[in-house]
Amino acid sequence: MKFESVSPVKSLSGAVEVPGDKSISHRYAMLAALAEGTSELRNFAAAHDCHSTLACMKALGAGVEVQGSTVRITGHGLRSLKSSWRTLDAENSGTTIRLLSGILSGQSFTTKITGDASLQKRPMKRVMTPLRQMGADIRARDENFPPLEIHGGTLRAIHYQTPMASAQVKSAVLLAGLYADGETSVTEPVATRDHTELALQEFGATVRKSGRTISVEPNPALRAVSLDVPGDLSSAVFLTSAASLFPESNLYIANVGLNPTRSAILDFFNQMGAAVSIINLHTNGGEVVGDLSVKGGQLKGGLISGELVPLLIDELPMLAALGPYTEQGIEIRDAAELRVKESDRISALADNLNRLGAKVEERPDGLRVEGRYAGTLHGAEIDPRGDHRIAMAFAVAGLGATGETRILDPDCAAVSYPAFFAELRRLAAF
Ligand code: S3P
Repeated sequence: MKFESVSPVKSLSGAVEVPGDKSISHRYAMLAALAEGTSELRNFAAAHDCHSTLACMKALGAGVEVQGSTVRITGHGLRSLKSSWRTLDAENSGTTIRLLSGILSGQSFTTKITGDASLQKRPMKRVMTPLRQMGADIRARDENFPPLEIHGGTLRAIHYQTPMASAQVKSAVLLAGLYADGETSVTEPVATRDHTELALQEFGATVRKSGRTISVEPNPALRAVSLDVPGDLSSAVFLTSAASLFPESNLYIANVGLNPTRSAILDFFNQMGAAVSIINLHTNGGEVVGDLSVKGGQLKGGLISGELVPLLIDELPMLAALGPYTEQGIEIRDAAELRVKESDRISALADNLNRLGAKVEERPDGLRVEGRYAGTLHGAEIDPRGDHRIAMAFAVAGLGATGETRILDPDCAAVSYPAFFAELRRLAAF
């Protein structure tokens, strides 16, 4: 089986740009297909997931032209999508299938959408419930799993309280709200990433926010945009973590999205004693953007629980894999959601940390990883279970272990960061 070999390094230094933000790219691609005219999206995510979204929008009749990291999408308005004779394929992307379900619920035709083996195991009931309340007729395997068959139509406006903290569920309802007969609102239990709200406004929709309730007006005339997608902080976190492990590191990551609903990870890093500073802070397309300067630091470790969990949900694999390098270890609670991501991340983390010789306790809603005092890590064979974030998290952990670490199926990293291993090799000093 193919593998990527990771050996101990002395430091991580140099300058790098990470690919465009995955969450933002999905939203821009979908809204551009519903807008009137040609949108130009620069620094569009290289992530395989976002190209799955592009393929779906193309199958639904939008014009899609990809030129390096610039994507031009031509739409003909909110009601211009055409039915696809093929089943749409969201591949590995939960964001694609859940957000598109919202849009497809408002169409006057029926669409089938599915994904790869991992996506076919991920719960869709969370979006089906509110979309059915709005009037969509959605069928799913075992009432919960892809393939989905979505019979769209005229939708009723609802006020939906999301039972779990999920930006994907919130976004599916808001996007369906574009096709509703009145103002649609979502109240979330805990704040989640707000890229859908910001993107809707950039494309000309009317969105209101009051506390944890977000409302959208129906039937907007969406306009084409010309926007730069900021770099993906969730990808930058792997390099930030790697640099933090070594005192001599000096890493500069330019043009990273620092939206406050995503940047809790940086506060957590600094609270842990990492040396990460923000430079050149500005806004672009409603999104906060800046550069990161990272030096080596002594990581303290800590507890992640409660409202913090959704704010750094995608960073939890990396934080857990850093646990053995911290003073007090890392503990994650209230994060049962991790079990229904691209893999069961709690189980994948515990298994692979064990392989490296770490001391871990797996719990239903998280895990406790002991710190440095529990001993040093040794190289091992890592099985990422097809999950990009597990592969990258353990490549970073392997940099500080003794001996060689082999990451099996390393190509799965391309789901969010195709150049990850190449960049890691380029920045590493031995
Ligand atoms: C995302 C939301 C999160 C996150 C995922 C991207 C989005 O999922 O884990 O990687 O773009 O809205 P949930 O909404 O399921 O928490």
